[in-house]
Amino acid sequence: MIYLKNHITSVVLDFILENQDSFLNYLEINIIIKEISGVNNFFDTQEEVTRLLTEIRTDSCIISSLDRREYGDFQTNSTLASQVVEYISKKNEKIEFVLEPTCGKGNFLLACILQFKQLKKIVGVEIYKPYIWYTKFRLLDYYLKNPNCLKPEIDIIHGNAFEFDYNTLANSTRYLTTLVIGNPPWITNSELGLLESENLPRKSNFKKYTGVDAMTGKGNFDISEYISYILLKCFEGHDGVFAFLIKNSVAKNLIHDQKINHFRIGYLEKLLIDSKKEFNVSVNACLFFAYLNAEPNQTCMALDFYTRKLNAKFGWYQDKFVNSIDDYKKSSVVDGKSIFVWRSGVKHDCAKVMELKQENGYFLNGLGEEVELETDLVYGLLKSSDLKVIRTSIFRKLTIITQSKVGQDTGYIQEKYPLTYAYLYDHKAFFEKRKSSIYKSKPYFSIFGIGNYSFANYKVAISGLYKSTHFTLISPNNNKPIMLDDTCYFIGFENMKMAQVAHFLVNSDLVQRFLKSIIFFDSKRSINKDILMRIDFHKVFENADFEVAKQKIDDLKRKHWNAFEKMIKEN
Ligand SMILES: C[S@@+](CC[C@H](N)C(=O)[O-])C[C@H]1O[C@@H](n2cnc3c(N)ncnc32)[C@H](O)[C@@H]1O
Repeated sequence: MIYLKNHITSVVLDFILENQDSFLNYLEINIIIKEISGVNNFFDTQEEVTRLLTEIRTDSCIISSLDRREYGDFQTNSTLASQVVEYISKKNEKIEFVLEPTCGKGNFLLACILQFKQLKKIVGVEIYKPYIWYTKFRLLDYYLKNPNCLKPEIDIIHGNAFEFDYNTLANSTRYLTTLVIGNPPWITNSELGLLESENLPRKSNFKKYTGVDAMTGKGNFDISEYISYILLKCFEGHDGVFAFLIKNSVAKNLIHDQKINHFRIGYLEKLLIDSKKEFNVSVNACLFFAYLNAEPNQTCMALDFYTRKLNAKFGWYQDKFVNSIDDYKKSSVVDGKSIFVWRSGVKHDCAKVMELKQENGYFLNGLGEEVELETDLVYGLLKSSDLKVIRTSIFRKLTIITQSKVGQDTGYIQEKYPLTYAYLYDHKAFFEKRKSSIYKSKPYFSIFGIGNYSFANYKVAISGLYKSTHFTLISPNNNKPIMLDDTCYFIGFENMKMAQVAHFLVNSDLVQRFLKSIIFFDSKRSINKDILMRIDFHKVFENADFEVAKQKIDDLKRKHWNAFEKMIKEN
């Protein structure tokens, strides 16, 4: 709980006492405050004045600690706000008009007042009334203490950023050098849906997705992306700057959609911030900086906000949207279609029953039960966390493989493997609890991500969970292939030498550079089948050197190398 008195400084309290009589008429006190601070319409009604004065007298709580998740309420600290504004002023010190659509406690607005010496107008919009008071009183305090400072006209508006009339504002400020600044809520429309929040724009399909895309993930968007979109649309023609603190994924989407939107924004920068330090949240975020009224640009520099060190330039390059244009240029030769089909591993959604450990001749399941099973259907299992090594043929866990292809009837287990069947049957309830609709009307104990390919003896695999592009070579254990779980992707081989060559190729500098150039590591499941299917093995092989491969692969002979070439040519 935050109490109003704590936020009204002694200077403001003295001001209130000295002007008690004027507070009897809100229009009169508004004129006085406007003269002192430039703030328009400090109070909207007389009732507001009376209520506020009562609250001050009784020291009421104005900012409650209610759950404000749906408002993405992470106020920018004043140090970061000042650093951002300082950065902007180095790029354009002549800012005359500042707009902040979700101004919160006003840290950005105050930093702008301190930084820009030619300010004529400030507009802040905020949905949470206590923050409106907070910001207004801060401004009043500032100007009472600094009466000779430049006073722009200031409007702190209690309103909804989604419904605000930006067009009218854009028309009236058309010839002012503009700064659109802010830190809009970092929350997606589907997260808001889960919170049953109504803090959503009415026209939520602003990306104009149709049909299935609108209904599925693609229709999901970040609120800050929506606010960026509508503000760029209104202010792209103004001279000035756009500077928003947003998630990296939103910055990526803004650049991606430049292909369609062609907003007049240029010299684009994504300056990475430490959101753990600044906001105590684990989200990859940045200051997205753009000059307004510039030649539309479709690429963006990624830098570190604190050191300004350049990481990469990302965006559109020859019709491809890539994470590092320089790396892509050096490796695009291998951008094509993989002749091997990358598969994801086994999915069962029943880890407590289906995943086992081996202990003292028994299998131990996730429920802590010792289990006796025939070994035929039990296979070693590797997960993403097991794929940190270069090669392996050992495993920590095992899994029961109930089918050899999707949808196979599982009745055979009862006949051939009575112990396994009894175990599965005893735990039938766990299978029935599986939520995913893929298991509906499927045979008992069904699994997914299973096919002939799962039984390949040698596998070249990568984790889909981690940010590493390194591949692991997996060999059988006791002549039995090892399975992967559904967080991993792999290609399979029967011949060890062929697997070793493939493993060498995907770990080569060329492929590694290519993957790093096309993968946006900030995105969820950034390493996925689509990405891996772009590795053109023909081209990778053409660019590989047998002598180098020989140093990496034990006992590699020219005949193996040639056999690999023949295999990829025939495929
Ligand atoms: C991440 S905070 C940032 C606050 C401020 N811009 C700053 O940088 O410190 C997001 C702010 O947006 C406000 N907000 C959320 N939804 C809003 C809406 N629909 N209209 C206006 N403000 C909103 C929240 O109350 C909160 O103050």
